[in-house]
Amino acid sequence: MPDLQQLHEKIAELEKRNDELSFLLYSALLANSSLNDKDELVSMSVIRSLVLALDSRDPYTAGHSSRVALYSLWIARQLEIPEEECKHFYRAALMHDIGKIGVPDKVLLKADSLDDDEFHIMISHTTIGARILSRMEPEKRMLQATEVAKYHHEKMDGSGYPDGLRGEDIPFFARIVAVADAFDAMTTDRPYAKGRSYREGVQEIIRCKGSHFDPVVVEAFEKVMEHRDYLDGFQKLTDQAESN
Ligand SMILES: [Fe+2]
Repeated sequence: MPDLQQLHEKIAELEKRNDELSFLLYSALLANSSLNDKDELVSMSVIRSLVLALDSRDPYTAGHSSRVALYSLWIARQLEIPEEECKHFYRAALMHDIGKIGVPDKVLLKADSLDDDEFHIMISHTTIGARILSRMEPEKRMLQATEVAKYHHEKMDGSGYPDGLRGEDIPFFARIVAVADAFDAMTTDRPYAKGRSYREGVQEIIRCKGSHFDPVVVEAFEKVMEHRDYLDGFQKLTDQAESN
């Protein structure tokens, strides 16, 4: 008979996966509901196909792009960015990691930590992504997506990549995606490591406020997570699993 502890862990895992799938469904509905002309539908379907191509490369991080886009959208709305701008930003965030299409499998799918050479190859997903997106039309609208792809790994203290930009030199929308991206990376299970709980993920983001992340964005992110009861909903599951 399966161990009770294992059963509880399995339930918590399935509930977490269910949360993730709900996000994906919600984000697909959200994207489609805001499309009001044929050109927008075409551009959204191109974006979705690109993201699907990326997700197919790495099944363990499938869904990452959609979740990051959704967290980014929540933060942008909390910051009272106009809805029309939020809609375009959502699409830009969806494509933030698109340059990983150009990263070889042996680096992208490596389970262990990367050596220096591999890390440099991985870093190039930012510049590859920017190159891909800068060639998409309409050029003016793709500027934000290009900046987000290029600069979402920059840090406020200048220790990020690819250019080591500091503070307000980092484009604002890339600073939003940096928080959403880091939070999702921390809270997602990998084949070799279990993700942190959502509460621990938020605590880590707060710990890096000012050094890695823009304090204004972190404060908006904290409010988003509190308002959505996101932390407590998941924490109960974690507590259940741990107390049994
Ligand atoms: Fe990235």
